[in-house]
Amino acid sequence: MELRRVAFLALCVLVACGSSDAKVEEENPEFWRSQAKKTLQSALERKLNTNVAKNILFFLGDGMGITTYTAARILKGQLQNKTGEETVMTMDTFPHVGLAKTYSVDFQIPDSAATATAYLCGVKTNLNTVGVSAAARNGACKTQKGNEVTSILKWAKDAGKSVGIVTTTRVQHATPATTYAHSASRKWYSDADLPAGAKKDGCTDISSQLLKNTDIDVIIGGGRKYMTPKGTKDPEYPLDYASRGKRQDGRNLINEWQRMKVGKVARYVWNQTDFDAVDPENTDYLMALFEPGDLRFETERDPKMDPSIVETTEKAIRILQKNPKGFFLLVEGGRIDQAHHDGRAYMALHEAVAFDYAIAKGLELTKEEETLTVVMADHSHPFTFNGYPFRGQSILGKSPLWGRDMLPYTTLMYGNGPGHKLTNGKRPDIRDVDTKTKDYVQFAAVPTESATHSGEDVAVLARGPMAHLFQGVNEQNYVAHAMGYAACVGADLRHCKGQTSPDLDSTTLTNDRNGAEGVRGSAVLLSSLLTALLALKVLM
Ligand SMILES: *[C@@H]1O[C@H](CO)[C@@H](O)[C@H](O)[C@H]1NC(C)=O
Ligand SMILES: *[C@@H]1O[C@H](CO)[C@@H](O)[C@H](O)[C@H]1NC(C)=O
Ligand SMILES: [Zn+2]
Repeated sequence: MELRRVAFLALCVLVACGSSDAKVEEENPEFWRSQAKKTLQSALERKLNTNVAKNILFFLGDGMGITTYTAARILKGQLQNKTGEETVMTMDTFPHVGLAKTYSVDFQIPDSAATATAYLCGVKTNLNTVGVSAAARNGACKTQKGNEVTSILKWAKDAGKSVGIVTTTRVQHATPATTYAHSASRKWYSDADLPAGAKKDGCTDISSQLLKNTDIDVIIGGGRKYMTPKGTKDPEYPLDYASRGKRQDGRNLINEWQRMKVGKVARYVWNQTDFDAVDPENTDYLMALFEPGDLRFETERDPKMDPSIVETTEKAIRILQKNPKGFFLLVEGGRIDQAHHDGRAYMALHEAVAFDYAIAKGLELTKEEETLTVVMADHSHPFTFNGYPFRGQSILGKSPLWGRDMLPYTTLMYGNGPGHKLTNGKRPDIRDVDTKTKDYVQFAAVPTESATHSGEDVAVLARGPMAHLFQGVNEQNYVAHAMGYAACVGADLRHCKGQTSPDLDSTTLTNDRNGAEGVRGSAVLLSSLLTALLALKVLM
């Protein structure tokens, strides 16, 4: 009781001292009324866009839960020296918003592979599996065959559109991999990652599927070490052993890709200079791999060597939009998630802000009448925004109220993660610690090596043709179906035929092979147990 009184007094003193950054105009009720009237008027004037989407621009913020979204909005404003909370991010301007339920078939809280299979292929599946239905088991090659499901990127390509992937991770990582690969394990980046049994059973690595499956026009991200023979020196880090080629089959997939494109203008680049020299007007194909693995965090990027996500998004759109039939592009802000796993809110939020600038670039280069733009997250993280920070206080700062242990705490913290620390039973005293630095790791309630994911719904935001389909609380796999419908790609072509009533022939509603012989009966129980064990061992 006494401690709480002290803390309360401390808060009053801070308020009286004018620490608050509240704005005078906001004290006038007319400020809020006129602002709301403008919002209401634009809602009243909004017309449904029922066009067939020529283009699909799909932005996926990996691990960008709603807490991250809100905190990134505040950071974006604060980086422009504003209080931040009132900032309008580009994604905030999307007129249609819904929620997606993210659980996977086998887990309450999912990973990026299972969720990508849901929102790209339209089918929920098991943890750690890519482009296969839930009849396939994590890590079990034998269960993969016949259970493949295809993605909207393939549906778009089959419909004559140009297609591309842009990511800040390696291009073989779960999210981009799901656009083109089928793999019982998300970890099978190169053939060196495939267990001998899986090779024997005919499974192939994700990198080789990048060349073999769908013909992708633009591939931008990292991951060149999975493309070259074991021991191949990396052009950027020739002395770094860990960056050297990984492949045991001796294939150089970068050279093979170039040879496959003979007769077309196909460019492979690995640095900013060559990237800048790529003229989208006369380039048919682009493969750009800027790092041996994942790209660097935006705030640690060397702008002389690697382009930003804004630049890569722009290049991709400019190449793809030459196709009169339109395009599908996946842009992934892939490292929001990785920063959260490390408990580094600064990095996660700066990645999310960069992602929002890429969305702005996407809107600038396309027309709303013909381009369906969707922004969503795959899953969230145990990331919390708490305390009673003053208006305009740094989003990376501390709550003015302290805990009952008479120690301050940061506004952002984690339910679990590497930031857990107790000394003599007490949390660290951060009174003199600058919590706004890029390497600061926020406190976590439970010690885990890496923060886990979390299970609450994620936001889905949409703009353009049929954006009003992205509303309400839906299963995450609905997203692929709604995008496919809007653009008239995949199995459901009613939108371009002027039909709206359901076609009762259910085979037209599924795009994937059904006659698959999955593991059935009593084997299911055993497999589920195995899946759980494997998943816990290899979870990202
Ligand atoms: C914000 O303020 C800082 C310090 O006064 C200044 O260095 C920076 O350039 C400002 N940024 C913007 C976007 O105005
Ligand atoms: C960029 O890549 C090209 C092609 O490998 C190479 O010739 C050039 O030296 C590289 N530029 C830098 C700055 O490393
Ligand atoms: Zn993750």
